[in-house]
Amino acid sequence: MVSELSEKILDYIDKHDKDDSVNLSKYFNVDYQKIVGAIKSLQAFENLIDVQIESRKEWILTEEGQHVVEHGSHEAAVYNAVPADTNGIRQADILAKVPYAKVGLSKALAASWVELVKDKNDAILRRKVHSISDDIQKNLKELKTLSDDLKKEYKKRKLIKENIVKVMTIEKGSNFSIKVDKPEADLTADLLINDAWKGKNFKPINLDSRGTVIEVGHLHPLLKIRSEFRKIFLEMGFEEMPTNNYVESSFWNFDALFQPQQHPARDAHDTFFISEPAVSTSFPEDYLKRVQKVHSEGAYGSQGYGYDWKIEEAQKNLLRTHTTAVSARMLYKLMQQGEFQPVRYFSIDRVFRNETLDATHLAEFHQVEGVIADYNLTLGDLIGTLYEFFKKLGITKLEFKPAYNPYTEPSMEIFCFHEGLGKWIEIGNSGMFRPEMLLPMGLPENVNVIAWGLSLERPTMIKYKLNNIRDLVGPKIDLEMVQNDPLCRLDKCEISAELRKPN
Ligand code: PHE
Repeated sequence: MVSELSEKILDYIDKHDKDDSVNLSKYFNVDYQKIVGAIKSLQAFENLIDVQIESRKEWILTEEGQHVVEHGSHEAAVYNAVPADTNGIRQADILAKVPYAKVGLSKALAASWVELVKDKNDAILRRKVHSISDDIQKNLKELKTLSDDLKKEYKKRKLIKENIVKVMTIEKGSNFSIKVDKPEADLTADLLINDAWKGKNFKPINLDSRGTVIEVGHLHPLLKIRSEFRKIFLEMGFEEMPTNNYVESSFWNFDALFQPQQHPARDAHDTFFISEPAVSTSFPEDYLKRVQKVHSEGAYGSQGYGYDWKIEEAQKNLLRTHTTAVSARMLYKLMQQGEFQPVRYFSIDRVFRNETLDATHLAEFHQVEGVIADYNLTLGDLIGTLYEFFKKLGITKLEFKPAYNPYTEPSMEIFCFHEGLGKWIEIGNSGMFRPEMLLPMGLPENVNVIAWGLSLERPTMIKYKLNNIRDLVGPKIDLEMVQNDPLCRLDKCEISAELRKPN
């Protein structure tokens, strides 16, 4: 089924073969846009009608021009408002009551239809001729036949303007008919039964249609940046470590990393200990013995710390303070599988610290961790790898500062130059795992492990131009920001400041 107007158009074309939308609008005395709409709906039927579209320029009345057509020209209006007697009327009265009086008055004066007489303090208008002929009104009524000179003049007076109309010329198509059925959009089961589809007209499939936007979930900025980091690691041949144990024993979080049991980070001020279950009891016995030895007495050429290592301290459960605990487990596991194979591991997941909360610190955050174990790696390999890694983030200026970690030697803090902020900022920590950590696991002596870690929140805040972590994590975050901010390519964009402006 099509609209009544469309059917009328089909009838008309059946009789006249061809015509255009402008004529049809006049013929049916229907608003031009409605004719265009009806023609467009007929176009949906394949080859029913052929349509040619061309742009035509035409002159149309402005609002002011329309006023002239209806009420006469402005100068005629002024003339008519001036009484025929010799007393005339005050100029101020005309200006107050006649629309467009200012132009009208100057034109009427120029045409000598009226005259202005100064009388004491007043200005009086009087008629100068007995009758006038309002040619402008007549001319505007016959727009089509206007001379070019008059068109120019009326355009200048803003009575007419040029308009571009899209004219649709239509004629019969190869499939023309005056009756149309709405074409079928889908081949349904009903149509298949008894070959009912055979007599039907099918709507062509619009392969350019964009489809409706489906309501889906949205990734949080941290997850978007995480997937970018993950891509970088995968490109560099890294394998993802399983990080599904937020709860860890002190043994894997600290002892395996040669972090002495008196180390201040192992205090409840810095670490969340778990009360239920408070301890872990299952550890690889031999390995545990070797860890105990290297801490208390020293081994593998190290003099150790020389203190009384206690299993009770190693058993304490905690929320892992870094994903380096995961790296420790993985390197130990690697050697349990047999002979050493070079590996590249990464992980991006949550860690927990008993921090004082402020604009840039929460008690939990995500750590990005990279680890490479291979024969004869050097500090140069670590530095080179870091340059390669950060280059993929769009960061090319790096500086390294000597640092200290119980499990790495040497250790380096990583600084990068932030172009936007115009300063060096600390972005991560890195180092070469100590032999005291690696040799008890059974790694060969000529194998070195380089590793680095950084927070996921920091680069995310920089990229999304957030300066308070509470705008990124927690109950105060703006869900619209999560929905609307685009995926941020780490190497390409920072979310534009435009987007970040408060509403
Ligand atoms: N574990 C360190 C941290 O929490 C990061 C790090 C990882 C440092 C690997 C050196 C090597 O900051």
